[in-house]
Amino acid sequence: MDEKALDKKTIFSGIQPSGDLTLGSYLGAIKNWVELSDTYNCYYCIVDLHAITARQNPAELRRRTVNQLAQYIACGLDPQKNTIFIQSHVPAHAELAWILNCYTMFGELSRMTQFKDKSAKNADNINAGLFTYPALMAADILLYHTDLVPVGEDQKQHVEITRDIATRFNGIYGDVFKMPEPFIPKVGARIMSLSSPDCKMSKSDKDPGGCIYIMQKPDEIMRSFKRAVTDSETCVRCNPSDKPGVSNLMQIYSVATGASFEAIENEFCGKGYGDFKLRVGEAVVELLRPIREEAERLIADKTYLESIYKEGAEKASHASAKTLRKVYKKVGFVER
Ligand code: TYM
Repeated sequence: MDEKALDKKTIFSGIQPSGDLTLGSYLGAIKNWVELSDTYNCYYCIVDLHAITARQNPAELRRRTVNQLAQYIACGLDPQKNTIFIQSHVPAHAELAWILNCYTMFGELSRMTQFKDKSAKNADNINAGLFTYPALMAADILLYHTDLVPVGEDQKQHVEITRDIATRFNGIYGDVFKMPEPFIPKVGARIMSLSSPDCKMSKSDKDPGGCIYIMQKPDEIMRSFKRAVTDSETCVRCNPSDKPGVSNLMQIYSVATGASFEAIENEFCGKGYGDFKLRVGEAVVELLRPIREEAERLIADKTYLESIYKEGAEKASHASAKTLRKVYKKVGFVER
């Protein structure tokens, strides 16, 4: 680590390669990662260990993992300034996760919304990994003495349980872990499905029109926006409870263009929803176009991508080894 990095606070965040990256994960997380990456010492991970809590096709998982790295870089994460790596390449994550499992209570894991949602959706595969998922996420975060965890709204509960686990561990063994804070953006923290605006936009969405993907072609993006569900009022106004579709489109347009809600209301006052949906679609196409083009170029360069994830794993292994050693000592393991 260079001297400048030592003065900086630390960020850790990650995304599962369980599906292609969505507009939701870009606006809720990655866009902020890029904005924060100049002022923080950042670790951005592709969390493949988490991804296997749902059944994956092995060849697809491998392809998506490497493509996700290309997309991180194409979104603006400079691999020279940020440590970008694949979770399974740094065994300390799985090792600390086991230990934290022993300091995480059955009751608190049972209360996790994501566990309840995912087990309802995958009733035939409610595996132990899905249940103890938050202990692995806590390990990810705590290994690097993370100050800030930039995530979308749905991950807030997991950062909170990380704090609870750290507090419990520190309460027994002294000041081992730093207390991380979630960073949730004011706008964009919960992007909703275009076709069912009461549900979060998700890579596991069964309706292909509800979700926009970072790598999607412009004509497909436009088609989904043209079909986006709105309401019968014909007035562009933000009110998530009675106008979820329009409010979601306003949110997307606001984060994509930087326009305030007031400016959006004025821009589309008296115009129909058709016009509005078209403009939001175009703004998203323009936002994603350079990312897709750069990612396509990088995906073709497998040697470059390999050099980045190997270097990332080395840096992350080095940074996390000290924490793991300290934890092993604290719990009473004999030194190797
Ligand atoms: P994952 O892979 O489901 O989502 C990745 C990130 O994208 C955000 N996000 C959204 N934000 C706004 N609107 C949406 N529709 C939307 N969909 C996804 C998520 O909040 C998340 O920030 N458990 C994590 C991955 C993880 C992690 C970590 C995150 C593993 N270890 C350590 C932070 C720190 C997850 O499943 O994210």
